Amino acid sequence: MTTADAAIRVTGLEKSFKDVHVLRGVDFDVAPGSIFALLGSNGAGKTTVVRILATLLRPDAGTAGVHGFDIATQAQQVRESISLTGQFAAVDEILTGRENLMLIAQLHHLKDPGGIADDLLARFSLTEAGGRRAGTYSGGMRRRLDIAMSLIGNPPVIFLDEPTTGLDPQARIEVWQTVKQLAAAGTTVLLTTQYLDEAEQLADRIAILHQGRIIVNGTLAELKQLLPAAKVEYVEKQPSLEEVFLALVGDDTGSGAGDTERAAAQDK
Ligand SMILES: Nc1ncnc2c1ncn2[C@@H]1O[C@H](COP(=O)(O)OP(=O)(O)O)[C@@H](O)[C@H]1O
Ligand SMILES: [Mg+2]
Repeated sequence: MTTADAAIRVTGLEKSFKDVHVLRGVDFDVAPGSIFALLGSNGAGKTTVVRILATLLRPDAGTAGVHGFDIATQAQQVRESISLTGQFAAVDEILTGRENLMLIAQLHHLKDPGGIADDLLARFSLTEAGGRRAGTYSGGMRRRLDIAMSLIGNPPVIFLDEPTTGLDPQARIEVWQTVKQLAAAGTTVLLTTQYLDEAEQLADRIAILHQGRIIVNGTLAELKQLLPAAKVEYVEKQPSLEEVFLALVGDDTGSGAGDTERAAAQDK
């Protein structure tokens, strides 16, 4: 992928908060229409990256382009090209699902807010629930409504910051299906997650953000190749993403086993 083709291009991003150097030179590209997972532990700096790309926060150094626009010099065009859905949903509980969608369509000055709402309700399997107050929705329905709301205006790039944190397993699967549909329809998705299974399920590429840098970036298959397959009584076992992650990142809270010891342990 050349830089001109990338839907998101991030080069050398640095950001400190007071004396905490959160981002120390972050680089990655995201191909149009793909799902890119930025994977990292709590506090790794995932939200900081997303806020910089969404022009809500200025980097100390580095550049980024979103949908061909520079975040520093073309912030307005960047904002018109994206939507950002955070962990804390923008859904109004008093309104019905349909009213929530219509409200956003009206805020965008779009024609036929009712038609737009009905299309999105159908697309997100919320048609039956559309007439009910959002306050009565399950966590998964609410998050789906939130993502549907963020799609009004057809942004080519969508940022999902920990889209399933706090959801139960069934709701997570519903949101995953929604995200897959988005990318299948051509939207570029940058999602952050601290869940390995989420990255494994959804992402075309996975980048691990650790100690301020992207320490690996590749497809799931490429990441798995970073560890040798463990041989146990002639049965070859492929490493899981979790094993790859722990071997690369180390276990901050754990026994103090180093990366090499961990990698070596996979061979036993
Ligand atoms: N506005 C802020 N002021 C001070 N520190 C911040 C601010 N935003 C984030 N941080 C710190 O930066 C680090 C990364 O935060 P964040 O990007 O939210 O991580 P993540 O989303 O990966 O959990 C954390 O240590 C956090 O406390
Ligand atoms: Mg965060």
